[in-house]
Amino acid sequence: MSKISSILVTGGAGFIGSYVTKLLLEKGYHTIVLDNLSKGKKEHLLGGEFIEGDLADRSLLNKIFKNKIEAVLHFAAFTDVGQSVSEPELYHENNVEKTRILLEEAKKQGVSRFIFSSSAAVYGNPLQDLITEDHPTSPINPYGATKLTIEKELGPDAVSLRYFNAAGGDPEGKLLYRHQRPTNLIPIILQGLMENRPFTLFGKDYPTPDGTCVRDYIHIHDLASAHVLALISKGGVYNLGNGRGYSVLEVVSAVEKITGIKVNLQQGPRRAGDPPYLVASSAKAKKELGWKPIYSSLEEMVEHAWKGYQQN
Ligand code: UFG
Repeated sequence: MSKISSILVTGGAGFIGSYVTKLLLEKGYHTIVLDNLSKGKKEHLLGGEFIEGDLADRSLLNKIFKNKIEAVLHFAAFTDVGQSVSEPELYHENNVEKTRILLEEAKKQGVSRFIFSSSAAVYGNPLQDLITEDHPTSPINPYGATKLTIEKELGPDAVSLRYFNAAGGDPEGKLLYRHQRPTNLIPIILQGLMENRPFTLFGKDYPTPDGTCVRDYIHIHDLASAHVLALISKGGVYNLGNGRGYSVLEVVSAVEKITGIKVNLQQGPRRAGDPPYLVASSAKAKKELGWKPIYSSLEEMVEHAWKGYQQN
């Protein structure tokens, strides 16, 4: 382990954490990734130190914090909203209890810079079109509740980044990520194309222009650049989205255009707990962090995600 100042990245072998680690390394940071590989893969790491282990392992955390840790970026969490409804205790244990252990151990060592992967799921059913950070928080699923619980327990130096719908892949194609069991729209459609399986559209009777749900997709590169800025910012809560929504059918069209393959679409019923429209105002992150998303086109997100599926 190293003696120079490092960034501890928990869950750094996962979809978002691995890309953020790549960007941190490019910016000259020294990274220590801690991941139990329950979802991520070691191959997703293009450099830095890697430690296989669990957040609940206090003695391991203690050893890690013997390094000079400048900040903790905490990605390690379960993220499947549906599973959080069927297994709420598992989500509480993994996302809340284990994060508390990490926070306690970080505090003991005087590390207060903590960048937390929060979620738009903390808002629940939105009451306004462009959600701002002062929108009431009222999660409608255990996943969102775990994120809100931790947000409230963070100290004043911590930054909570509320992701909207993370999408995309490495634009350079160096980090080829293919989800093992995708649970989100774009990877589900791409995986279906690879395996020649139909895609089920969850509901077409929503009060939106084409009847399908609208989401604010945000490229992982832009999510990652916000983390780099958060490292040198004051503490606070920030939405990360594009302020532009795309419907499920618009995503299907973008996939067909980029891949050149027709999606075998099957109409299914609504999925429980899906708000019709979820779009962020990220004005605060732009103003206070100086954040400038650069890959805001849906087609680019699909194109970069597709690279991981084709070459992996
Ligand atoms: N969808 C389908 N068919 C599928 C999968 C998804 O029609 O097979 C639809 C969903 O019903 C929804 C849209 O595609 O309308 C997006 O669904 P995702 O599951 O990709 O994303 P969600 O908006 O439900 O949730 C995501 C993350 C959460 C996060 C939330 C915040 O999974 O962790 O964004 O915006 F909290």
